[in-house]
Amino acid sequence: MQLIDGKSLAEVTRSRIARETQDLITKHDIVPGLAVILVGDDPASQAYVKMKARACKEVGFYSIVHEMPDTISEEEIIGTIKMMNDNPRIDGILVQLPLPKHIDTDAILEVIDPSKDVDGFHPCNVGRLATNLDAFAPCTPLGVMRMFEHYDIPLRGKDVCVVGASNIVGKPMAALLLNAEATVTVTHIYTRDLARHTRAADIVIVGTGVPGLIKADMVKEGAIVIDIGINRLDDGRLVGDVDFDMVAPRCSYITPVPGGVGPMTIAMLMENTLKAAKMRIVR
Ligand code: GUN
Repeated sequence: MQLIDGKSLAEVTRSRIARETQDLITKHDIVPGLAVILVGDDPASQAYVKMKARACKEVGFYSIVHEMPDTISEEEIIGTIKMMNDNPRIDGILVQLPLPKHIDTDAILEVIDPSKDVDGFHPCNVGRLATNLDAFAPCTPLGVMRMFEHYDIPLRGKDVCVVGASNIVGKPMAALLLNAEATVTVTHIYTRDLARHTRAADIVIVGTGVPGLIKADMVKEGAIVIDIGINRLDDGRLVGDVDFDMVAPRCSYITPVPGGVGPMTIAMLMENTLKAAKMRIVR
């Protein structure tokens, strides 16, 4: 069994991005800029936004965080996004999810200029990804693809089971895998016999938010298991969606939590923002 070390792959990726950013500044006078919009006071969202802002600083990006109270109106959020769409110093715009219940998330995401949509949540990028055109792909599934590449794990013709069908993780993960010519099964909360699907798969990718959902008897011997879940238990421990201790001995490769997919997500946000900034060169 080999551990897939997302932490060190993310560090190497961020160093490369920092070097490319210096190049972009020196040769083209372009400083990549990211605007983050944070609504409300959810502690997890606050922590993620802080990590994203710190990562920007580390790689040499300009970044601004717009913090808004959860009483804010949809119109005010839309106004801020439009301002960022028109701001030439901003290459990437990210609205931290989830938004408060009275806000229509789909309506908000559609206002983001697709060429600044570094989260890849705008329907334009979703459609482009689904048709295998150049697009901003959502950061978490993109990070998983980078892990496969780095560890030379081939995908063509492989049976991959994606557990969880969210717009942020499961669906874009399936699209990326299909584009890489894997045979993809997507399971979700209404799937009748989850284990039947996971057991048949060469690769199992799980993002559900259910701690310990995947047990040892649900994966075949030699499987590759990618755990996207990050769950805080009552005792303070951080665990994934996979029962790691029991599942790991059966695997050829597995990602740990923490230190697996999580660090790659922020590295890919930096990557997408750099890509958006480079689009200024040809403009
Ligand atoms: N909330 C949970 N994951 C994400 C993500 O990748 N991007 C944004 N904007 N919000 C999230």
